[in-house]
Amino acid sequence: MLLNIMTDILKEEIEERGYLNVEVDKSVDFVKEINALKKEKNAVILAHYYQEPDIQDIADYVGDSLGLSQIAAETDADIIVFAGVQFMAETAKILNPTKKVILPDLKAGCSLAESCPPQEFKAFTDAHPDHIVVTYVNCSAEVKALTDIVCTSSNAVSIINAIPKDKPIIFAPDKNLGKYLIKETGRDMLLWDGACIVHEAFSIDKLLTLSAEYPNAKIIAHPESEAHILQTATYVGSTAGMINFVKTDDHDEFIIATEAGILHQMMKEVPNKKLYAAPAQEDNTCACSECHFMKMNTMQKLCICMKHELPEIHVDSEIQKRALLPIERMLDVSSGKVSVLNL
Ligand code: 13P
Ligand code: SF4
Repeated sequence: MLLNIMTDILKEEIEERGYLNVEVDKSVDFVKEINALKKEKNAVILAHYYQEPDIQDIADYVGDSLGLSQIAAETDADIIVFAGVQFMAETAKILNPTKKVILPDLKAGCSLAESCPPQEFKAFTDAHPDHIVVTYVNCSAEVKALTDIVCTSSNAVSIINAIPKDKPIIFAPDKNLGKYLIKETGRDMLLWDGACIVHEAFSIDKLLTLSAEYPNAKIIAHPESEAHILQTATYVGSTAGMINFVKTDDHDEFIIATEAGILHQMMKEVPNKKLYAAPAQEDNTCACSECHFMKMNTMQKLCICMKHELPEIHVDSEIQKRALLPIERMLDVSSGKVSVLNL
């Protein structure tokens, strides 16, 4: 079995390619294989809303970054298969370090996480030692280890509001979410200059044209989008928040400004409502509202990864300990256990 012959060559191959390049017979039924592997290995598949539809459909849980980390923290499965991007799988490993956490493609990164190299971020925080450091979960384990409290898009406002008013704040790495939080909370913050390539690709001109074409459609947006997009939105929230909004709102037409993968779950939840994807700047053949990192995971890679339990996520134990505290603080504020942070 490949698992037992994990040689240096194999490790190098995974590092270089991001996944195991095993040839697969065309006749393999991935759905059947993956379901069998789930049982055989007591594995749980967690998928983000931006994953391709087949992966969402076979997952045990589909959710936003907060919901998936809550499940990862509590699962009693032996293996957590994270169908998402690297920072999400790392967060699962930090929260539940005794579990084996695997990711179908190790190269599934994130432009926000890449925009914040730990060394540069350390120099930035060292230059402002009196500031409370808040980081969006879309960052590396090393950056989380330099953080006082982590947040996700669904709890960012309550996290900022839980920080005593006299404390200055650094917010990283997403400047768009940071600007939104300054507006929502009235707090002044030093922002790191990072952004999500997918959410920055929306075209305001095309969005307004689409909105004029469907005047009854409410615009809803993810807070990683730029301020001019957010200004047009009736609702701004996380992926789970956006799904909940279209489910509970009495309107039946919506324009959705986030990664297009979310439309799969939304259409399942509200099959009778009309949903339009917000257009990206490029022409209509461009898949700019798709995150190419998220889409690196495929059913084939998922199946091979479960079979051979590779690639596996490893987090240095010192980093894991330091990164755990700010994530646990976030979970405490999110669950209502803590309302004022004593930092
Ligand atoms: P949420 O899942 O927290 O809404 O954010 C998603 C995200 O940025 C994934 O890229
Ligand atoms: Fe990162 Fe943006 Fe992709 Fe989310 S959609 S994983 S923030 S690049």
